[in-house]
Amino acid sequence: DWTMRAFREEEIAKIRAQVGKGKVICGLSGGVDSAVAAVLIHEAIGDQLTCVFVDHGLLRLDEAKTVVDLFRHHYNIPLVHVDASKQFLGELEGVTDPETKRKTIGRLFIEVFEQEAKKIGGADFLAQGTLYPDVIESVSFTGGPSVTIKSHHNVGGLPERMNMKLVEPLRELFKDEVRKLGRELGLPEIFVGRHPFPGPGLAIRCPGDITRDKLDILRKADAVYIDQIRKHGLYDEIWQAFAVLLPVKTVGVMGDGRTYDYVVGLRAVTSTDGMTADFYQFDMKFLGETATRIINEVKGVNRVVYDVTSKPPGTIEWE
Ligand code: XMP
Repeated sequence: DWTMRAFREEEIAKIRAQVGKGKVICGLSGGVDSAVAAVLIHEAIGDQLTCVFVDHGLLRLDEAKTVVDLFRHHYNIPLVHVDASKQFLGELEGVTDPETKRKTIGRLFIEVFEQEAKKIGGADFLAQGTLYPDVIESVSFTGGPSVTIKSHHNVGGLPERMNMKLVEPLRELFKDEVRKLGRELGLPEIFVGRHPFPGPGLAIRCPGDITRDKLDILRKADAVYIDQIRKHGLYDEIWQAFAVLLPVKTVGVMGDGRTYDYVVGLRAVTSTDGMTADFYQFDMKFLGETATRIINEVKGVNRVVYDVTSKPPGTIEWE
């Protein structure tokens, strides 16, 4: 792709000009954006870059392994893998407000990045995979309309007192362009084609308070759902899909017994940039089969519902 080849060269020049001889820390989230940003910056400045993957305990099943494998084995880019799940889950205990969750997570991310920066003798820059839609939907720090829909942690959710300056080479791109750039940079298709995953992770897919037990249930249900989508060949048709664990228990019946377990909500949308979205029209047979699998395979769930809300008026995530 000609435009992406040109963009790549231009951005590499810009990154070199901005960073000079400085050191950069790049936070990887497991999503496409931060991975593309990291590979691009690595191309620009090589070992002035340190990538940090923070396991905040809010990742999907096997996510840490997938990311670590990609960076250490495929790219040979040094990667620091920090297990900060105790700290994150500890501070999130009892937090139910969605914006407080995001801000808490944003603050902790910076604390971890600053800790890691210290270990390498200080860093001057923090790199993030912020995209154009993130910039316009989190307008609170950047001026513009006074309504913040959500403070994306990689834009508005950052504390103001941060010591490092930001490097955000994808700030002008939309998701489909980031994917093109990822291909241009040689990222494996399985990674480039992954659905978006928000920095705050499963915290915003677990409305109400977050516990390890709930996260385990959610992780398993989500894995079954995505497996179903892949098996039916629908993954690439859908822009984003995930499970949500509702903070509600309902009554069910299994064998001769009564159950009283959680409800799982399923979300799937089509979109081009995440700013607007339509709910995906699965056929009922797919949904029925998926519900049966989740209930049979995931202990703690006895009911499954499908979200038929588009954006607007809904957002894609539930928080
Ligand atoms: P919403 O829920 O705002 O989501 O319709 C639009 C897209 O943005 C992702 N998202 C986030 N990504 N930090 C991120 O890095 C966040 O705080 C955040 N909130 C939402 C969401 O997954 C969807 O792809």
